[in-house]
Parts: sequence; C-alpha cells; structure tokens
Amino acid sequence: MPGRTTVLVTGGAGFIGSHTCVELLDHGYDVVVVDDYSNSSPGALERVAKIAGRPPTAVHEIDLLDRRALSRVFDQHDIDAVIHFAARKAVGESVELPAEYYDTNVGGTTALLRAMHGHGVHRLVFSSSCSIYGDAAKVPLTEADPASPTNPYATSKWLCEQVLADICRRLDGLSVLALRYFNPVGAHPSGLLGEVPRGAPNNVMPYLTGVAAGRFPRLRVFGDDYPTPDGTGVRDYIHVMDVAEGHRAALEHLDDATGMRVFNLGTGQGTSVLQLVAAFERACGVPIPYEITGRRPGDVPALVADPGAVARAWNWTTTRDLTAMCEDAWRFQELNPSGYSN
Ligand code: WQD
Repeated sequence: MPGRTTVLVTGGAGFIGSHTCVELLDHGYDVVVVDDYSNSSPGALERVAKIAGRPPTAVHEIDLLDRRALSRVFDQHDIDAVIHFAARKAVGESVELPAEYYDTNVGGTTALLRAMHGHGVHRLVFSSSCSIYGDAAKVPLTEADPASPTNPYATSKWLCEQVLADICRRLDGLSVLALRYFNPVGAHPSGLLGEVPRGAPNNVMPYLTGVAAGRFPRLRVFGDDYPTPDGTGVRDYIHVMDVAEGHRAALEHLDDATGMRVFNLGTGQGTSVLQLVAAFERACGVPIPYEITGRRPGDVPALVADPGAVARAWNWTTTRDLTAMCEDAWRFQELNPSGYSN
C-alpha cells in the first residue's frame, strides 16, 4: 500500500495487539487503537510508545458493540486496513458465559464489518485460533484439516471465519486474511512489554514465570496420561514477536487477492509441558517445582501447526526458538513483577 498506511488495531492494548502495534510503528505504519481495556491496560500502550519512540496516532476506549462510537472512529481517521484482535479468549470462561463470548466475539466482528463497509474499508486481518481444530485426529495440522471446536471460545472463532468467508463471497473487493495462531508466548526483548493476565494466569507460560518469580509455589501440570511422548500436553509455542511480524506480513499481502484466505501461524515444533519446564530451567537457570494433577476439562492432547502454507505463500517463517521465548518471558516477569504498574 503506497504512502503512509493507517492501520486500525482493535484490542491493540492486549498481549498480541500491543506487540503488533510496536511492529507496525517500527515499520512506518500509523496506528489507531480501539480497546475497551476489559482484559488489558493503557499502560501497555505507554510501553508501546516508549519502545517505538512514537505513540499510536490515537487511542479510543470503546466497545466494538457501540456502533456510533465505532463509526466515529472511522469518521475521524482515514483507515487503510484493520487488524482485529479484540475478543474474549479464556476457554474456561467461555464455557461459563457462552452468550457473552458469542456476543463479544461474533457480534464484535460483524459490528466491525458493518463499520468498515460503511466507510469503504475493505482490508482485514482477523485473529483466529488453532483452538478451532479441537481434539485434532492428527498433528501437524494444515489449514485444510477439519475444524471441530469444542468450546464456545473456539466455536466463536470458527463462526467468525464462516461469517467472513460468506461476506467475502457476497461483497466484491473485500480482502480478509484469517490467522490461526497456535500458542503465542514470550515478550518483547526490551522487557518493557509482555503478557499481563488479569488474576491468576490460565495459560502455562505466564503461570510458569509466576512460579519462577515465587508468586506461586509450583506449576500444576494438567495430566500426564495423554497419548504423547511423556504423557503431558503438547503444543506449538510461537514467540509473540513472530506473531506480530506475521501480522505485518499479512498486511503486505492483503492486496494479493480479494476474498478470504486462512493461514496457520505456528513453528511446526511440538513441545510438551514437561519439555517446556525443562527448556525454561535451562534457558533461565531457575528451578520450576511442579506437581502432576488431573487433566483440565476441555484440554486436548496435542495441537501442532504445519506452517508450510504461509511459508510458500509469503516466504515467511518464524525465527525465534523456545529458548528465546523462555528468556524473553522471564525478562519481562523479572522487570515487571506488578505488570504495567511499575
Ligand atoms: C498449554 C498446555 C495445558 C496451564 C490457550 C487457549 C487457546 C489459545 C492459546 C487464544 C496445555 C498445560 C496449562 C497450567 C498446564 N488462545 N497447562 N498447567 O489451552 O493450549 O490454549 O491459549 O487464541 O485458545 O485455549 O494454552 O497455555 O492454557 O495450555 O499444565 O497451569 O499447558 O494442559 O497442555 P492452550 P495453555
């Protein structure tokens, strides 16, 4: 896209959103952020500005379901493309609050599409998730493998993909790239930006760094009776800076074609929970006590990406390994024991 490109980033104060804002600002994009701070904080955007040396053009604290407020954002800025991160993403919570998850995640996406259509914006990168594959029969997974979401969060992401695909078939000129992330972990290498979950972390890496920092006595390993090499869950951990770079690559390929395209974002490398613990201890020199507990409801044995499609289409691959993911996550935890309030 010629000249200065303005990208609207929904959920731009969140974990992946904030790292993507740094990546875009570092590469000459102008960034407009909308976020309701329901699972993020303005402090993240202050760190984004500090790292990038300049702030986003504007930050709007709004709920995507507030149609008038969202329309005003498009009135105030000449948006060239949108990256849509804003969503609720806790699997366990989605089982308790399914209607809220469909309202926020699917309703928020259709509200955004209506605002884009009303303002002649036709480029969208959508934050999807490997969780749509559910209890996959095989690994690694390609984009052609069937979706079988097993919880409202994953189903909401799958429904969003269906809505986007259908609208792309009906509206000429719309270009959508849906990126199915596997497990984003790590932090910006500066130690200024990272993952700051509200309350006790659901995800393994922030919980693990919390154990290393003495916030928690030990890591609970949710089950060691899965059909995996050491019995613990296997995932494809991808550095959050690789995920951010993947979004910049997506922006640069939106004009390759119109219509909806889907890509997995992963490394292709599966790592079990116990292998992650060992990698963290090796990388950071901090022992991680753990106990084996029962399985967590909703967990699946293994989710690993086949990253070949995005490599062939964009000549893009991840570049950071598990050691970097552990080192960067730990640096952020050490420098920010109280998240963004220090
Ligand atoms: C990873 C592994 C757990 C915590 C989640 C979302 C998914 C996506 C990525 C957004 C599993 C085990 C975990 C702990 C543990 N998010 N574990 N002890 O569930 O693979 O995916 O984040 O798109 O939608 O569901 O990530 O980090 O919670 O779990 O043993 O305290 O670690 O059983 O095998 P998950 P996770």
